[in-house]
Amino acid sequence: MSSLTTSSEGENSTPRFVVGSRDDETEFLGSNMKTDETDFFEDDEEEESPPERQIVVGICAMTKKSKSKPMTQILERLCKFEYITVVIMGEDVILNEPVENWPSCDCLISFHSKGFPLDKAVAYAKLCKPFLINDLDMQYYIQDRREVYRILQEEGIDLPRYAVLNRDPDRPEECNLVEGEDHVEVNGAVFPKPFVEKPVSAEDHNVYIYYPTSAGGGSQRLFRKIGSRSSVYSPESSVRKTGSYIYEEFMPTDGTDVKVYTVGPDYAHAEARKSPALDGKVERDSEGKEIRYPVMLTAMEKLVARKVCVAFKQTVCGFDLLRANGHSFVCDVNGFSFVKNSMKYYDDCAKILGNIIMRELGPQFHIPWSIPTEAEDIPIVPTTSGTMMELRCVIAVIRHGDRTPKQKMKMEVKHPRFFELFEKYDGYKTGKLKLKKPEQLQEVLDIARQLVVELGAHSDCEIEERKSKLEQLKSVLEMYGHFSGINRKVQLTYLPHGHPKAASEDEGKET
Ligand SMILES: Nc1ncnc2c1ncn2[C@@H]1O[C@H](COP(=O)(O)OP(=O)(O)OP(=O)(O)O)[C@@H](O)[C@H]1O
Ligand SMILES: [Mg+2]
Repeated sequence: MSSLTTSSEGENSTPRFVVGSRDDETEFLGSNMKTDETDFFEDDEEEESPPERQIVVGICAMTKKSKSKPMTQILERLCKFEYITVVIMGEDVILNEPVENWPSCDCLISFHSKGFPLDKAVAYAKLCKPFLINDLDMQYYIQDRREVYRILQEEGIDLPRYAVLNRDPDRPEECNLVEGEDHVEVNGAVFPKPFVEKPVSAEDHNVYIYYPTSAGGGSQRLFRKIGSRSSVYSPESSVRKTGSYIYEEFMPTDGTDVKVYTVGPDYAHAEARKSPALDGKVERDSEGKEIRYPVMLTAMEKLVARKVCVAFKQTVCGFDLLRANGHSFVCDVNGFSFVKNSMKYYDDCAKILGNIIMRELGPQFHIPWSIPTEAEDIPIVPTTSGTMMELRCVIAVIRHGDRTPKQKMKMEVKHPRFFELFEKYDGYKTGKLKLKKPEQLQEVLDIARQLVVELGAHSDCEIEERKSKLEQLKSVLEMYGHFSGINRKVQLTYLPHGHPKAASEDEGKET
């Protein structure tokens, strides 16, 4: 059962607002509805009276859009916001009534599609001054691919290299087309095949792609999906000679288009679909739904989504990305568009829209509203094995386990010459001696060299051990051929009672 109710069903659902003059046309999505939808009708009498003034969110679009499944799903969720009431304007009202008679609203979700009177919606917005979720003036631009590309370019968003061929009888100077077998030249800009030819009207989906002779020539003619087809091959190799077009370079993708759907500047859902430019056969699953591939947007692409949403002033905005040559290029901006068949998107979208509306209008309606914190937004998701918390991210601070070995050697020395060093550099005061100066290190090296020579003849085990240590000391000190900088030092520690049993590893040389 749906929580959507029409005012003509009013006997048992008593709408809280009677808005506009054509009640039979206007639909209400009740506010303050209980989450249990059956209760809404059964316990209506017992419900607490709603707050005095609700925020009315008007939906003004063609019926095909305002009654679509995604719209219904999202509005059902949106009207669960305590202070929001949704009013769907009927198509008959929109088309036939003067805007003065349209239901009033505080926030307007309105968008153009085929047959929609955008001029009237603009006039209504001027009259009623609602908060606009999607700007209406910008929707004129969205209908013209030239304007869309101009805006994208102004925003510094990557798009395919393109040129506009205007066939305007009043401005013949703008129409300079030179056609070769394997290229076109549009106002001086050369496009070798493959290139793409798009009608300037964004509503016209007859996009043609021309193949080079090396690939057999001809063209692929795209059109609005009809059943299982989205394009057809044509042997025609020459471009259209009537109408105005955009010509652009063909971007070599992996054969998929990335469809992006924003809900405000900080949220974008993306999914990939097979490009209609391939063979024109639409991939469908057993339920007949077009197959979609999951997509993770890169940080750059998320920035593009934000820029598109902001530049076109469309909170809810769909656009197409072509991933090619290591970049992403925007090739189409469609304006208002919802993702189909994604519960997660319906939930997210309604929540974000509700928050945007409350944040914008809550204060002037004196509604005690605080922006929900992330902690309140517990990510519980339904799964096949019940509901559970969704893992949103894993944060780790990781360091490699390699350590540079301590470049230290330790040895025990007993020879009087070492004690002479102790004497000479006043080591007995503290029992420790640190030798860093080149001449001091040279002295230690001289002692090591002398002792190595002296011990040379012996073959006693213990002496052998001491000899190898002395040789090590000698070679460390001989390293680099001279003493300079701070790369070596010698530390001596006086041990009057001999070597302690558990000496720390890090101790210096011992005497
Ligand atoms: N420059 C390009 N390089 C490669 N392929 C392209 C290019 N431009 C468009 N296409 C392909 O053609 C398809 C249709 O192009 P585009 O999206 O511009 O037209 P549209 O009819 O407005 O689409 P929509 O149905 O999304 O409104 C794209 O989805 C993409 O697969
Ligand atoms: Mg497109």
